[in-house]
Amino acid sequence: MSVKYIVAIDGPAGAGKSTIARMLAKKLRYVYIDSGAMYRAVTWKAMKSGYDLNDPVKLVSLARNTMLEFKKYKNKITLFADGKAVGREIRTTEVTANICHLADNGGVRKVMVKRQQQTAQGGGIVMEGRDIGTKVFPRAEFKFFLDASVDERARRRYREYQERGVKVNLSDIRRDIMTRDRKDKTRAVSPLRQAADAVVIDSSRLTPRQVVDAMLKVIRK
Ligand code: C5P
Repeated sequence: MSVKYIVAIDGPAGAGKSTIARMLAKKLRYVYIDSGAMYRAVTWKAMKSGYDLNDPVKLVSLARNTMLEFKKYKNKITLFADGKAVGREIRTTEVTANICHLADNGGVRKVMVKRQQQTAQGGGIVMEGRDIGTKVFPRAEFKFFLDASVDERARRRYREYQERGVKVNLSDIRRDIMTRDRKDKTRAVSPLRQAADAVVIDSSRLTPRQVVDAMLKVIRK
């Protein structure tokens, strides 16, 4: 495809957004951007540096003063925070539990949205998150809302943890996912919503390949 579009993928935790967005970007030869990694990286930095997570003003200045860039590293588009590639350290349950302090903060979101918009200059990107089709790129050419049942999403996350050798309990994961859904959908600023013009795909009974094929069908039409 010679014209470079913006593809926005939103949806709740565990719906398969990362896997799908990565596969779709590869097919389209686009760049894959994981917007959640940006919220995770700043949360991780705040925790590591002993920030008071209940101080919203300090968190905004921390977000503003953290350099966040997506660059190719070991053949993968990777997030660099303050010049360092971030990895598994931003995916811990402790970071996940504290993200709401940043994700619910309107000032922090403003900083993040601006950076995300700058990343996409020129198009040719697949970006996934919670507010991509509604706030970051309300005029994206293609918008998808990827959903799946809570049980299926919990099972997927459980398998991911198991593959990484992390000991977890399925019912704890299910409860965490439900809590995160509620927080993401009810936050005052930029709650998780399906954009009015998004194509909704329920991936509960679909393989990643089937989901990507369904998206490609929409894009290539
Ligand atoms: O995508 P991931 O599960 O890594 O995102 C972690 C959290 O970051 C989400 O639960 C949400 O609270 C927040 N987030 C957000 N807006 C985005 C991406 C993620 O608020 N665009």
